[in-house]
Amino acid sequence: MTEGRETERLASDAAGIARAADLLRGGGLVAFPTETVYGLGADATDDRAVARIFEAKGRPRFNPLIVHLPDTDAAAAVAEMGPQARALAAAFWPGPLTLVLPRRAGGLLSPLVSAGLDSVAVRVPGTALARAILARSGVPVAAPSANPSGRVSPTEAAHVLAGLDGRIDAVLDGGACAVGVESTILSLTGGPRLLRHGGVPAEALARVLGEMPAEGADDPAAPSAPGQMASHYAPRGQVRLNATDLRPGEVLLGFGSVEAELNLSRAGDLTEAAAMLFRHLQMLDRAGHAAIAVSPVPERGLGRAINDRLRRAAAPRE
Ligand code: TXA
Ligand code: MG
Repeated sequence: MTEGRETERLASDAAGIARAADLLRGGGLVAFPTETVYGLGADATDDRAVARIFEAKGRPRFNPLIVHLPDTDAAAAVAEMGPQARALAAAFWPGPLTLVLPRRAGGLLSPLVSAGLDSVAVRVPGTALARAILARSGVPVAAPSANPSGRVSPTEAAHVLAGLDGRIDAVLDGGACAVGVESTILSLTGGPRLLRHGGVPAEALARVLGEMPAEGADDPAAPSAPGQMASHYAPRGQVRLNATDLRPGEVLLGFGSVEAELNLSRAGDLTEAAAMLFRHLQMLDRAGHAAIAVSPVPERGLGRAINDRLRRAAAPRE
């Protein structure tokens, strides 16, 4: 975008969808909601547009991007989908699962999308709104979460503007994201490997795969997935996990029936907690709290993704 131009606010109606698609086709940067978090989209076949994503987010270029597509056929046009990928797609797409697959040879994708790897991450997002933008744009759309690199991911249009206003062409406001944590990332370039816990619980993947997938990259030297960068999703204040007491100066981000400044879910419901996680971290961040204590969250189902994000939020900063 031209420096100093204003970021357009688009509504989630036919005109907003059409404008978002036009901007994407023209090489623009458009933030839009998915079921997980808001993504910062650009035409994945356009080197300049993809380069601008890295610039706007301040994102390291060795960190590859997820390509978003309106359906499985469109995904199969950019990635090699074997029987296992097809089975997972049938079970979880549209939805919060990203598959890392061999890149289709001779494809149109900008090499920047994969940061030099011969694989590509693909996903078909769960909301009709996101798929309408993708279908209408007619191009594969690279979209990381629409936040400055390393900060809390956005689950509302206002969060996107708080981090990226004036740095992107438009944001389409579709309200709050229902899932609230990013997609689960599963690599199928070798045996199944879970690269990031997310909106599809590992237990659900296991039902299709026949066993729990191994975790982490198979080549420890390879730039694997997300937030393998330890500090990520970080509010400005210090974060202390598994807090069962409150120390001087701390506010409590609670889970379950505890007395707290904010509560992820009073009922102890992990789906609700995931949906509230980034919203509450954004609120505590905006309020300028210097020290945030977080109640223990059980390590099962969506709790795995919640704890992963909390551990990175609490990790020592550079
Ligand atoms: O829910 C989501 O996945 C959101 C929404 C917008 O779709 N997107 C998202 O993108 O979380 P991002 O860029 O914040 O995280 C994607 C992660 C990257 O950190 C990267 O490490 C990993 O996916 N990734 C992308 N391509 C990969 C590849 N070829 N191999 C391994 N990991 C890859
Ligand atoms: Mg992100």
